[in-house]
Amino acid sequence: MSRPPGVPPRRPQLPDFPWDALVPYSERAAAHPDGIVDLSVGTPVDPTPEVVRHALAAAADAPGYPTTVGTPALREAAVRWLARRAGAVALDPGAVIPSIGSKELVAWLPTLLGLGPGDAVVFPELAYPTYDIGARLAGADPVASDSVTALGPRRVGLIWVNSPANPHGRVLPAAHLAKVVDWARERGAVVASDECYLELGWEERPVSILDPAVNGGSLDGLLAVHSLSKRSNLAGYRAGFVAGDPALIRQVLEVRKHAGLMVPTPVQAAMTAALDDDAHVEEQRSRYARRRDVLRAALAEAGFRIDHSTAGLYLWATRDQPCWDTVGWLADRGILAAPGAFYGAAGGSHVRIALTATDERVDAAAKRLTA
Ligand SMILES: Cc1ncc(COP(=O)(O)O)c(C=O)c1O
Repeated sequence: MSRPPGVPPRRPQLPDFPWDALVPYSERAAAHPDGIVDLSVGTPVDPTPEVVRHALAAAADAPGYPTTVGTPALREAAVRWLARRAGAVALDPGAVIPSIGSKELVAWLPTLLGLGPGDAVVFPELAYPTYDIGARLAGADPVASDSVTALGPRRVGLIWVNSPANPHGRVLPAAHLAKVVDWARERGAVVASDECYLELGWEERPVSILDPAVNGGSLDGLLAVHSLSKRSNLAGYRAGFVAGDPALIRQVLEVRKHAGLMVPTPVQAAMTAALDDDAHVEEQRSRYARRRDVLRAALAEAGFRIDHSTAGLYLWATRDQPCWDTVGWLADRGILAAPGAFYGAAGGSHVRIALTATDERVDAAAKRLTA
């Protein structure tokens, strides 16, 4: 059916890309005589593990198309990993499919689930911005809310939880997650749990939605979204997967097959190797633990308070002043941080400090903070 004359095509209302606003601060920080320490983004800087690079290279001869559902080896490795690290019991490999990193899955999940106008997509008040974008791309209603009871009688299609959370590193206890799951099941809503920082618990042990302590032994209505970007320094490979309710996975798979959302064969091989190896994760964890200790102590000495941050890849820091003032104060010392306002209005007096810089740069930041 053609569009009536004068009616513009439906375009999702997307926000301005917020990072552009940080450019002047980046330039200010870059003017430091010893160079910028960029702690604004959570992009890994340490090498991709050898075991993963070898697996990628060994699978480089890949003339045919990959399957959208993923190789049996990858799905079995994911099931083993979920049992080992996420406490998931007896998952069928059919309940797992790979994604091209997790960001695309987050952005497209409401669409893949068939949500649209009139369906609420709920996400935390302080959150990774792509949950909101995903709702908008589907034409659904984005709703930032930390309380399911505050949602009223509206039709909720999808609820996102994120523990450990970006930006503030808070861990949701099993009992809290269980309440969200019960509430969603009563309403027929899907719960998607973004667990990309699951293996980065420092002072608390993060719990997966796949753990029976949360879901009572049933995967009904649940999806766990995972990423290898942070745990395995694989952000450049685009490697993620989603696991959970087999009926939902089948639905998501069906659309992904039609849309060509498939992970390249060599990347699937690399993911398989990465998921079967815990040694490199321990090594990476100890790097981040050291950087976290150094930055935490230096920020405290410089008068910052750190809130939450018991897990994940960031320190959620404040000087009890508007976040842009703090971003400016840090930029004058050659340090770039992300303003908390990027993640929601409640972040207006915090900055997010990423642990993803080399030891040398982290030590430089600490020296400047404590000078
Ligand atoms: C909460 C959260 N979810 C998902 C992602 C996306 O990760 P990737 O697309 O690299 O898997 C990020 C990246 O920073 C994130 O912080």
